[in-house]
Amino acid sequence: MSERMRHGASIGQPLTRRDGPAKVTGAARYSADFKPEGMLHAVMAVSTIARGRVTHLDVAAAKAHPGVVDVMTPENAPALAKSPDEKDNPFTFRLDLLQNAGVRYANQPIAVVIAETLEAATEGAALLAPRYDAEVPEVELGGGEIFTPSSVGAGSPTEEGAGDVAAGLAAADTRLEATYETAAQYHNALEPHTSVAAWDGDRLTLQTPTQALWIAKGRLAELFGIPPENIRIVSHFLGGGFGSKGFIAAPQILGIMAAKLVGRPVKLVTRREQMFGPVGHRASTRQTLKLGAKADGGLTALDHHTLTLTSRHDDFVEACGLIARHLYAADAIATTHAVSRADIGTPLFMRAPGEAPGSVAVESALDELALELDMDPLELRLRNYAEVEPITHRPFSSKALRECYAQGAERFGWAKRPKQPRQMRDAHGLLVGWGMGTATYPAGMMQGEARATIRADGTALVETAAQDMGQGAWTVLAQIAADGLGLGLDAVDLRIGESDLPNGGLAGGSTGTATAGSAVHAATQAALAELEALAVNDRASPLYGAGNAGTVAQNGRLARRDDPTRSESFSEILARADKASVEAKGTGAGEPASRKTYAMHAHGAVYAEVKVDPDLGQIRVTRLVGAFAAGRIVNPRLVRSQYYGGMIWGVSLALHEHAVLDTRSGRVMNPNLAEYHVPVNADVPSLEAILVEEHDPHVNPLGIKGVGEIGITGTAGAIANAVWHATGVRVRHFPITLDKLL
Ligand code: MOS
Repeated sequence: MSERMRHGASIGQPLTRRDGPAKVTGAARYSADFKPEGMLHAVMAVSTIARGRVTHLDVAAAKAHPGVVDVMTPENAPALAKSPDEKDNPFTFRLDLLQNAGVRYANQPIAVVIAETLEAATEGAALLAPRYDAEVPEVELGGGEIFTPSSVGAGSPTEEGAGDVAAGLAAADTRLEATYETAAQYHNALEPHTSVAAWDGDRLTLQTPTQALWIAKGRLAELFGIPPENIRIVSHFLGGGFGSKGFIAAPQILGIMAAKLVGRPVKLVTRREQMFGPVGHRASTRQTLKLGAKADGGLTALDHHTLTLTSRHDDFVEACGLIARHLYAADAIATTHAVSRADIGTPLFMRAPGEAPGSVAVESALDELALELDMDPLELRLRNYAEVEPITHRPFSSKALRECYAQGAERFGWAKRPKQPRQMRDAHGLLVGWGMGTATYPAGMMQGEARATIRADGTALVETAAQDMGQGAWTVLAQIAADGLGLGLDAVDLRIGESDLPNGGLAGGSTGTATAGSAVHAATQAALAELEALAVNDRASPLYGAGNAGTVAQNGRLARRDDPTRSESFSEILARADKASVEAKGTGAGEPASRKTYAMHAHGAVYAEVKVDPDLGQIRVTRLVGAFAAGRIVNPRLVRSQYYGGMIWGVSLALHEHAVLDTRSGRVMNPNLAEYHVPVNADVPSLEAILVEEHDPHVNPLGIKGVGEIGITGTAGAIANAVWHATGVRVRHFPITLDKLL
């Protein structure tokens, strides 16, 4: 850690969002706000069957409608340079881009109507009156043939374990076997998938919300057979993504194809109900936990088996077992996955993919085991605290989970919790229950690049193709840049959200700040090195001959490290060298060797209080206290905001969200925010997120772990455990709705 980082004036400050004023005044332009000259509107028509083929579309009727310019179907869709069904790596998901008449899931795009107005396009789409050859769909978990996938999640092994689970179970004093089910969930970002596309020959300008500009650019270049440099994607602001905008989705690409077809700019906005299919979702899961423990609580066996769904035509697998691989120190561990195929849109990464539903099952099962053992649930977790990563035996790069447990418990008042259920009531006679769960998520990162320019006026420009989907990249990357350069925040201009900037990685997998932040830091150091070279080689500079002592940047000046009274401002150095600026690129640490040596995870503990109406079964979460340790906290305000968002989604996973599939038609029956329940303000309890101090010398030079996903892990399990504690009823089928308590 360099000195200038330790003395950073910006990092660690709870600053409000730099882009906040632009957002609240409407000056921030989201993709759908763009309106290039001559722009047309496109509306998708989507399939009402889940399996079969389209046999007829009344294109003539749609075309005859006033204002309709064209109708794109498999008959006239622009040819693509590469089949969207070709899969050369696990992160290239197959897309439905009107290349044939087949239907693989309900809500699949089957045509696009392009018109002068949104109304005309919408009406035109309604006139298509599709007819189908429909086959009987299979959409139930375990309904199709069950097989073992070749990998799960982001390429993790399907099976991993250590020791002999059967022997561990045999040696146990107490055994528990339980099966938990979690519901299918669909990403419902406020901003739907949108594209505003304009072609100029073989050059494409695109406004679209994406969590990964360079991945999107690469995918589009392949599909359209043009060099990536010909594509300029602008994605300055996203109205949420949650994983569904990690990879450019079919609706976004159909908008680009429509623009190509008609030779004019086109805007396509996915309608809310059309998001239930073609843009990913979290598949339902059925997880079986087998636990064995000695009388003192020590786990002799932890067996976690997951059955989940994937689509018939692609391979994403919800990796619930990951969490059991590194959280508890059982003598023997087995984690396995199986999948069945269904006629559904391909599931995809969704906030804490794997860990979110996985932790529901693991944390519920531990709670059930604690009751069997007559042990406090927190004590059981501490008894099985993993000092090293259980399967690999690697040390953790840092792990302040013990402090999370302790600080959260203290704040919540956990010590007063009675072990038996139905022991507490509030003044209104409502049953009160307390539960807890452990939170964890890997501290991953990618390789990112950034460019830093120090200007003669003493300001700087820092550029990287990072994206802000609401997490605060506009602010935290500027904070990192300011401290890296020894400048005040106001002197730093940041450019992100454009694909022709250096690759800033992915706003996903909780890697965004670690990736782009490391790159930004490296770029600032490289630019300062350029500046230093100008000064130390110039006899006229007070820094002349600083040589090995080196310099340190502070308050817009470079000073000799061994004699800080000898310093010179950035402006003076550049003026004398007769330069308008110095500029340098830097690369983020990517996967340093220490990633092999150390296990890297963020951790946390979540404590929940619920109140349940004993007559009606109505459940309210009244209090959530989360304590999280995730390395260096660049901006406590924005990190808290991430934790709150994650914890609220934990409420959703525990009590609300459930995509209801009609098993006959294969359609989602509640594809709207009226019937697909997410927490509203009245459902959100008193929230508290404690930032537990943690220094990690190994994850990356800045010591940053991710915070985007960990909040949802642990929370849903804690709520389920609190519901049991309030009522004595153990619900293993999520979401926990009042009917399940009666
Ligand atoms: Mo997240 S599911 O990696 O956007």
